[in-house]
Amino acid sequence: MDSVNKSLALCLVRMKGNKIISLETDRLIIRSFSPDDWQDLQEMAIQYQASEWAKYEDPWPTSTEEVKGMAKWFASGDDYLSVCLKTTGKLIGLIAINRRKEQEERVHNLGYVFHPDYHGQGYATEGCRAAMDYVFGQLAADGILTGTHPANEPSVGLLKKLGLKGIDGGEFAISREEWLALD
Ligand SMILES: CC(C)(COP(=O)(O)OP(=O)(O)OC[C@H]1O[C@@H](n2cnc3c(N)ncnc32)[C@H](O)[C@@H]1OP(=O)(O)O)[C@@H](O)C(=O)NCCC(=O)NCCS
Repeated sequence: MDSVNKSLALCLVRMKGNKIISLETDRLIIRSFSPDDWQDLQEMAIQYQASEWAKYEDPWPTSTEEVKGMAKWFASGDDYLSVCLKTTGKLIGLIAINRRKEQEERVHNLGYVFHPDYHGQGYATEGCRAAMDYVFGQLAADGILTGTHPANEPSVGLLKKLGLKGIDGGEFAISREEWLALD
């Protein structure tokens, strides 16, 4: 589909019912969470909570105890992926790909938070494209449906750049067919 796809290496190992996911792009490793990710996750959570965008979503925990619990919970399932720089291994973002259970078809959410020090460099686009490729390819999704506040311009811009279209109720969606038709 694009350079992300060409450079995408996919590794899946089954362990305790959960997949260990590892996706590689030009600059990023997008992988399953580890409980040891808590420090980078805490740094990102504190920065995010202090940002102008946090008011549009439920508050994130920021205390050490809470963030350790959050990292452990992320690491126990397949729904949350950590986005790390290839060069240093630093965790710079999180992508959520949980399946939306209320939908009859296989429809997944797409959520994301990136550390502000790494905004505006195309990392979110690169990471989300790889995650979408995984969702449509490996998880055989019928579509992606997600919501964001209309005033959250970076988030709306990212979703549009990824090919999602605004639908009723302020949500954004892309079908499998639309994803496959993208250049
Ligand atoms: C949304 C977010 C992940 C975008 O990250 P990013 O690293 O800046 O994204 P990219 O560099 O890949 O940019 C992708 C597109 O987003 C849009 N965008 C990014 N920053 C923007 C800004 N400040 N204003 C308007 N649009 C912006 C643009 O359309 C951009 O494409 P372009 O560079 O071709 O113009 C980041 O701003 C973030 O983590 N926000 C806080 C978390 C959040 O609000 N999540 C959504 C909750 S629903």
